[in-house]
Amino acid sequence: MGPRAFSTDQSGGSVRVFAPASVSNLGPGFDIFGLALERPGDEVVVRAVAGTGIVSLSVTGDGGRVPTDPLRNAAALAVQGVLDRLGSDAGVAIEVRKGIPLASGLGGSAASAVAGAVAADALLGGGLDRIALLECALIGESKGSGADHADNAAPSLAGGFVLVLPGQPTRMVKLPTPPEMVVAVAHPALEVETLGARVILGETIPLAAGIRQWGNAAGLVAAFFEGDWELIARCVRDAVAEPARAGLVPGFRRVKASALAAGAVAAGLSGSGPSVFALCRGSLAAETAAAAMAEAFQLEAGVESDIVISGANAAGARILETE
Ligand code: HSE
Repeated sequence: MGPRAFSTDQSGGSVRVFAPASVSNLGPGFDIFGLALERPGDEVVVRAVAGTGIVSLSVTGDGGRVPTDPLRNAAALAVQGVLDRLGSDAGVAIEVRKGIPLASGLGGSAASAVAGAVAADALLGGGLDRIALLECALIGESKGSGADHADNAAPSLAGGFVLVLPGQPTRMVKLPTPPEMVVAVAHPALEVETLGARVILGETIPLAAGIRQWGNAAGLVAAFFEGDWELIARCVRDAVAEPARAGLVPGFRRVKASALAAGAVAAGLSGSGPSVFALCRGSLAAETAAAAMAEAFQLEAGVESDIVISGANAAGARILETE
């Protein structure tokens, strides 16, 4: 399918930006931990055109499913956020090239929003800092998920393993990752809408679950600083969201168990799923874990999986081209 657009226009300068997919939550860090992958990712081109504000918007690579209404599109909302923040009435045309599968649990709407914000800022010479760019991206991301959570947008923007603190002012902390860490992801041919996967969580958790969760979250931060794999194995556990969501992903428990049996150090649901991630020591271990997960999805749920083997993407969003 070719690009769908609500308008076309003459072009001026342009900036093309790549923003990577991300694995969020990582066990105990619901809405606060995220890890950028090297691929897949979304690209957004923002072009200066005659007119005011968002003059046109087109999307490719989405099978015609991402809204092309600028008021409902993550990248366009982020671009508008940058225009507003800079007080600019420039006219821009936006082209979104989706590389991240929809509803995959890999932070696709966050990546589009991040790429849009970075491209618009670069085009307009805004010089916004990372926090401002993140806040603009979150305007777009929150429309997609129906909730304000920055655990995909922050790593997609800044790269690496990121802790993003809840509440205001916006604050993110980039944490180290062990150099030999390789992430395996199995993305089954299934979809889980984040909004629906959040509604089922309810609003309160038992104290005992809270204690396990904050203990493991604190432990995981320490584990990454220390490069302590035993502690990583112990702390990548989710006492809150994953148990409630497991039923949304057919075969999930067996897929996770198969990754661990194949040598992964830790595994869990990527964001709200259906993708499953595994943290591994080295590429060989990651390939073995990925193959085991794909086989388990096939056996348990009868679905094929796409596999991603990736180190942590230290750089995050990057400008690919400026004209
Ligand atoms: N932290 C979010 C959630 C990520 O689990 O709902 C969604 O991708």
